[in-house]
Amino acid sequence: MADAERTFVMVKPDGVQRGLIGEIVSRLEERGLKMVGGKFMQIDQDLAEEHYGEHEDKPFFDGLVDFITSGPVFAMVWEGQDATRQVRKMMGETDPAESAPGTIRGDYGLDLGRNVIHGSDHEDPGANEREIALFFDDDELLDYERVDEQWLYE
Ligand SMILES: Nc1ncnc2c1ncn2[C@@H]1O[C@H](COP(=O)(O)OP(=O)(O)O)[C@@H](O)[C@H]1O
Ligand SMILES: [Mg+2]
Repeated sequence: MADAERTFVMVKPDGVQRGLIGEIVSRLEERGLKMVGGKFMQIDQDLAEEHYGEHEDKPFFDGLVDFITSGPVFAMVWEGQDATRQVRKMMGETDPAESAPGTIRGDYGLDLGRNVIHGSDHEDPGANEREIALFFDDDELLDYERVDEQWLYE
């Protein structure tokens, strides 16, 4: 496998409330990505402010923090070839209204502030590692082989 990497993915509170955990996990699993960590949790204020720290000066920051702490999320780590960029492609654009049908945000969202899923930004070097470390301890991430890996990678 070339470029094997891990990326942080989260079903946001709107996705949890709308019953989309299974659908999102299913899409990532069927693509061939491997879940190596998962945690159903509620984000507190400090974690939210740190996770979205890059946006602290933006007008939407307070609303974003209120939203992401408003209910349970499903935080995950997914592994695979070029995983960070591939997950972002599957997510669509930040604004669901600009996201192509077939993408997660393009299929399940309409509003910029309720876009169902988070994934580490592949254009921000180290974002995946930083976000994984923010949400998971090392011993919460599992190393294992999926039985289909020999058919998934050349
Ligand atoms: N203009 C905006 N108004 C409201 N919420 C926004 C806006 N821009 C971004 N957000 C929210 O902040 C999150 C983080 O923004 P950003 O990192 O730019 O997008 P992405 O989640 O695609 O990486 C978005 O997913 C969205 O929930
Ligand atoms: Mg981002």
